[in-house]
Amino acid sequence: MIIAVDGPTASGKGTIAKALAEHFGLPHLDTGLLYRAVGRQVFLDGRDPDNSGDALAATSFPDTLLNDPHLRSEKTGGLASRVSVHPAVRQALYDRQRSFATQPGGAVLDGRDIGTVIVPEAQAKLFITASVEARAQRRFHEMRERGAAVTLAEIAEDLRRRDDRDRNRKVAPLVPAADAMVIDTSALGKEEAIAAAIEAVEHVRSAG
Ligand code: DC
Repeated sequence: MIIAVDGPTASGKGTIAKALAEHFGLPHLDTGLLYRAVGRQVFLDGRDPDNSGDALAATSFPDTLLNDPHLRSEKTGGLASRVSVHPAVRQALYDRQRSFATQPGGAVLDGRDIGTVIVPEAQAKLFITASVEARAQRRFHEMRERGAAVTLAEIAEDLRRRDDRDRNRKVAPLVPAADAMVIDTSALGKEEAIAAAIEAVEHVRSAG
């Protein structure tokens, strides 16, 4: 079974994808990490994330970069969002995501275009969403715990900017697949959101 989990930043899609992978005993790929690695590599190269050639060159980042703690930072998230608008970058990362998804036994992938572009044939497609306010709150608590000096307003502003870029880009914009099950986690706790996702997947699995 292939499970595609898409949604905006801080919607809870990463947590849900990990929990689904564990529950169903499937390998999991966080595809945002690949775009983050490209963003980080462009930065390390001292190149321009808005330049398609510079961003494409950075897709040959070394595998070890995927373990770089800087990948999780807001700054790298912003760079990832910028490099991800280039069709050449998306194309360069396609095979890696596609072969992970189609490995024997199935897989869980989370990202922005998994159910629409990478594996449109996935049996289970979830689109995880939440209000900007709810997502900003969560990110704020997360960052405070890590000791980052940020305000809620700054985070909300950054989320809006990123949502806007991810939704309005020409290639593979963030939209739910027509057959995706939409889960709004604004009013759900972590365990409730996970339970809702498991139930949705169980439902299509028993139907299929
Ligand atoms: O999920 P994330 O915050 O780690 O993703 C970082 C950026 O990468 C996001 O702003 C858009 C881009 N991305 C994408 O375009 N397609 C994906 N499948 C995953 C991430």
